[in-house]
Amino acid sequence: MDTENAQETKTTLVLGGTGKTGRRVVERLTARGIPVRGGSRSGEPPFDWEDRITWAPALRDVESVYVSYFPDLAVPGAVATVRSFAELAVESGIRRLVLLSGRGEEEAQRAELAVQQAGAEWTIVRCSWFSQNFSESYLAEPVLAGEVALPAGDVPEPFVDADDIADVAVAALTQEGHAGRLYELTGPRLLTFADAVAEIARASGRQIRFAPVTIEQYVGALGEYGLPDDAVALIAYLFTEVLDGRNARLADGVELALGRPPRHFADYARRTAASGVWAPE
Ligand SMILES: NC(=O)c1ccc[n+]([C@@H]2O[C@H](COP(=O)([O-])OP(=O)(O)OC[C@H]3O[C@@H](n4cnc5c(N)ncnc54)[C@H](OP(=O)(O)O)[C@@H]3O)[C@@H](O)[C@H]2O)c1
Repeated sequence: MDTENAQETKTTLVLGGTGKTGRRVVERLTARGIPVRGGSRSGEPPFDWEDRITWAPALRDVESVYVSYFPDLAVPGAVATVRSFAELAVESGIRRLVLLSGRGEEEAQRAELAVQQAGAEWTIVRCSWFSQNFSESYLAEPVLAGEVALPAGDVPEPFVDADDIADVAVAALTQEGHAGRLYELTGPRLLTFADAVAEIARASGRQIRFAPVTIEQYVGALGEYGLPDDAVALIAYLFTEVLDGRNARLADGVELALGRPPRHFADYARRTAASGVWAPE
């Protein structure tokens, strides 16, 4: 069989293909005419991190995989699960793994090692907090309600745009020259959560207040809201461990991978405000 043609028909599996970064990776690959399979519980075939029987069918005839774990590489068992998945992927004949990882999380760094040791070409995309948490995740509702109460204090975070993450992931999935590289992705500026909320208020023309709260108050409020205990524990971990100042510095992964600077949070805020998601009904 002609190797070139055989490769042309091979698919890229995008795990978390309907999520914040995966959806953008799927859109970009599809626009380039690259065959894509979205890997998540709603995919075809379905892929479930918690049901290993679903993994092999999702990996059939796959050349490259974008690995976005859910809910977070820091949860108990994530490293072992990602290791098993990466090993199965290599046994199934995939050539390339691109891992979405988290900055400043010890467990995430162990998951990176598992992917690096699996036996395929690898690229690690290690990211700071996503800007899109304010519009496509648990911070969207408080923004809409006009008050964002968080135990975030004054520690600044270099929020990174999910569109930049997707651009880097697609480069790593489709181009040569990114294998064996670990890219640390941040935005171009350090912002406190109060700064970020102020940018969103400016862009959306609304009054949105940032209210600092203690971690105990926050955890209590999430529990009362009905969030399951493991989700509360994960969010508490992120706000204490990861936001202790260890990530309060910029990194140059977007520039290194793409040869251009990262998008500004203010651009994200303008684009997202224009989409209407922060407009009250
Ligand atoms: N958010 C951040 O700021 C941030 C920062 C750094 C790193 N990260 C890393 O990014 C990764 C993704 O986090 P995210 O917050 O951006 O989530 P996300 O990608 O928006 O998560 C949603 C996606 O996960 C899928 N999903 C949910 N449960 C699943 C399951 N049991 N099996 C397979 N797929 C499942 C969903 O599709 P279905 O509903 O169809 O299953 C959807 O595609 C995590 O590993 C996290 O550590 C996040």
